Amino acid sequence: MKIAVIGGGPAGLYFSLLIKKGMPECEVTIYERNPPGVTWGWGVVFSDETLERFRDADRESYEEIAASFARWEDIDVHFKGRVIRSGGHLFYGLRRMRLLEILQNRCREAGVALQFETEIDSLSACSGADLVVAADGVNSRIRSLYAEHFKPDIDSGRSPYIWLATRRVFEAFTFIIRENDDGLFQVHAYPFDRATSTFIVETDERSWKKAGLDTASEQETLGYCETLFADELRGHKLMSNKSAWIKFRRIRNESWRHGNVVLIGDAAHTAHFSIGSGTKMAMEDSMALASALQAQPSDLASALDAYHQERWLDVAKKQRAAEVSQRWFEGIARYRRFEPEQFAVSLLTRSKRVTHGNLKLRDPGYIAGVDRWFASRNGCDGVEPPPPPMFTPFSLRGMSLTNRVVVSPMCQYSAADGSPDDWHLVHIGSRAIGGAGLVITEMTDVSREGRITPGCTGMYKEEHVSQWKRITEFVHARSGAKIGMQLAHAGRKGSTKLMWEGMDEPLPGGNWPLISASPIAWAAANQVPREMDRGDMDQVRDDFVRAARMAQRAGFDMLELHCAHGYLLSSFISPLTNIRADKYGGSLENRMRFPLEVFDAVRRAWREDKPISVRVSATDWAPGGLEVDDSVEIARMLKSRGCDIIDVSSGMTTEMARPVYGSMFQTPFADRIRNEAGIPTMALGNIQNWDQVNTIIVSGHADLCVLARPHLFDPYFTLHAAAAQGYHDMRWPDQYLPAKPRSSG
Ligand SMILES: Cc1cc2nc3c(=O)[nH]c(=O)nc-3n(C[C@H](O)[C@H](O)[C@H](O)COP(=O)(O)OP(=O)(O)OC[C@H]3O[C@@H](n4cnc5c(N)ncnc54)[C@H](O)[C@@H]3O)c2cc1C
Ligand SMILES: Cc1cc2nc3c(=O)[nH]c(=O)nc-3n(C[C@H](O)[C@H](O)[C@H](O)COP(=O)(O)O)c2cc1C
Repeated sequence: MKIAVIGGGPAGLYFSLLIKKGMPECEVTIYERNPPGVTWGWGVVFSDETLERFRDADRESYEEIAASFARWEDIDVHFKGRVIRSGGHLFYGLRRMRLLEILQNRCREAGVALQFETEIDSLSACSGADLVVAADGVNSRIRSLYAEHFKPDIDSGRSPYIWLATRRVFEAFTFIIRENDDGLFQVHAYPFDRATSTFIVETDERSWKKAGLDTASEQETLGYCETLFADELRGHKLMSNKSAWIKFRRIRNESWRHGNVVLIGDAAHTAHFSIGSGTKMAMEDSMALASALQAQPSDLASALDAYHQERWLDVAKKQRAAEVSQRWFEGIARYRRFEPEQFAVSLLTRSKRVTHGNLKLRDPGYIAGVDRWFASRNGCDGVEPPPPPMFTPFSLRGMSLTNRVVVSPMCQYSAADGSPDDWHLVHIGSRAIGGAGLVITEMTDVSREGRITPGCTGMYKEEHVSQWKRITEFVHARSGAKIGMQLAHAGRKGSTKLMWEGMDEPLPGGNWPLISASPIAWAAANQVPREMDRGDMDQVRDDFVRAARMAQRAGFDMLELHCAHGYLLSSFISPLTNIRADKYGGSLENRMRFPLEVFDAVRRAWREDKPISVRVSATDWAPGGLEVDDSVEIARMLKSRGCDIIDVSSGMTTEMARPVYGSMFQTPFADRIRNEAGIPTMALGNIQNWDQVNTIIVSGHADLCVLARPHLFDPYFTLHAAAAQGYHDMRWPDQYLPAKPRSSG
């Protein structure tokens, strides 16, 4: 087989070496536009796990790499004049040019032809090749030539950055955050040999322009950065290597092959440099492609498909983690007010791949210090050992919670005419004795017509007060939990079947008329709701107020107003479901007018010393819909009206939604709202274990963690979390004390 490889970066070189080694009969030629010994950039980073894979693929290059790398275990975060160090991370740094030299030599030894100073502009230069491997990097010419087949999706980052180096050899992977009159600048620095460190400077567009760096010459940029980071550089200069200010480009391709042309490395996908995985991913592509070709040497199409199949999921996961990390750095200004301890742990856990528990394994002393600091700021000063972050108390107005775990509202579809019964007592009661700090009732409707299904609970008949009171009294008497009620009106999503009979499907008979912000049916099969007039608004507002007063009498500690998931109040907020032409439609301010009117009326009716939460869908996950920026604004409006906490959900507002699910996928929204609008938040959505709860709380992403399905799986989630962490002070029900693990007292 004749193989043409375009690009002699890590991907092209490593692939050529491995395929030539595995299939010596192949004729492999690399076309590289630069001369040997010339490249951009400075150092690259690998983990020990990656190096092991290199060892298995080609021992000779691995040994040379291993003889050349710098190794370190610590990460230092410089912030507000302090340096916070965490250990146990284990990275290896290598000069990029050294890596290329090693691979070039190995390619020569294996018999690969290397044609330097050869720029490939079209495939005619490779016309005799059976396979063309496009390893031509982030700006791939081949990808552009066949864009209609590869279907690239390119997203430009917001922050300008420049890849520099210095002779100051940092002893750790070092993040430096520095604020001056121009703005905020951050450095990602790491050593890559005994004499040099990579020094990437990143900032936001405004600071960059204010500092004049958008028009600065290379020398001026170096001078500016040397002055700004003089303390850390300790007299060393910064060095450039064809360095320029650029913005990171995230590349994805729908297809990785077209005919006999295949993309690898940065040409196929990129991952933000803050997770340091680009070279590793490029070389992993090389390994996968070489293996696939060796497995099916006579069926090129199947081999290329197998390569894609092998790689796409891992790449998608890395890109997702990298994107979260990129967004963290792009939004770094929102963490300015954090104390250094919290700033550092937020930085370390930014991509969600590293958790509080991982950090504890890597460096127990570091995490003990973080926990001690967090405890001291959250009512447990001097408590030894400090409680895990999830077991610190939290207060809203007069309501004090003993821990940060919340049982999410979960419809049970088991009520008759709104009445909660024994099922609800047992369901809520068992979760309260399971240890959560706060339990929130299912969506409880303020009127009979406001129910989603005939099985939904309500707060609209006098007997509902005593029925709910039975439950709140049980919770207060028999557990340490507080209990909140989620109040709602289903709007256009009402009059449907029970969840297990057909979610969102209209009832087979006995449907009741629906109202909503605009006359838009949920789906083709659903009823078209009537657009609410002012009379309807008065009625709904008064129903909410009546329900709030009843909740007060029933002994609830907190109210939650349901403004999410496409129900009535949410239908006013989303531009996709509110197309009104009056003062309740149009701008965000107008769309919030009625939900805020309801909030104000409920706030007036609810006791001053008791908190109110509002659940929002932070994004519609649909084009033209609500975005997180809007939700930050919504949170500001609610905060100014006396809302105490935002319960941050997302989606379920339109059938057109295309959510990107994943572990803790809504937590970044809770983080943005908390740290931009300055209001406490609850994070929820795929929070699966107590380690994630600790991580979210200690990193300042949110103040409380709300878990739904994990509490269906295990009502005793919090008790079990305490036992697993050896947390002694967890209150177990007296009746269950014989089962309390001995080690936890
Ligand atoms: C600031 C920054 C920091 C980074 N830090 C790290 C890190 O710490 N760790 C890490 O693993 N990765 C890091 N990366 C990413 C890493 O550099 C890339 O992911 C990696 O180089 C991809 O390898 P590649 O072979 O696919 O592409 P490249 O390394 O870009 O190689 C492509 C090659 O193709 C050649 N070429 C391009 N077009 C043509 C043409 N038309 N004809 C002939 N030749 C052509 C180029 O000259 C180049 O040599 C970083 C990237 C940046 C921007
Ligand atoms: C059975 C069930 C019923 C639900 N009912 C409600 C509800 O009444 N109100 C609400 O706001 N969310 C409701 N949700 C959504 C959850 O509160 C939560 O936001 C969602 O399940 C994501 O959290 P999780 O990943 O921890 O399950 C329900 C979820 C489930 C599984």
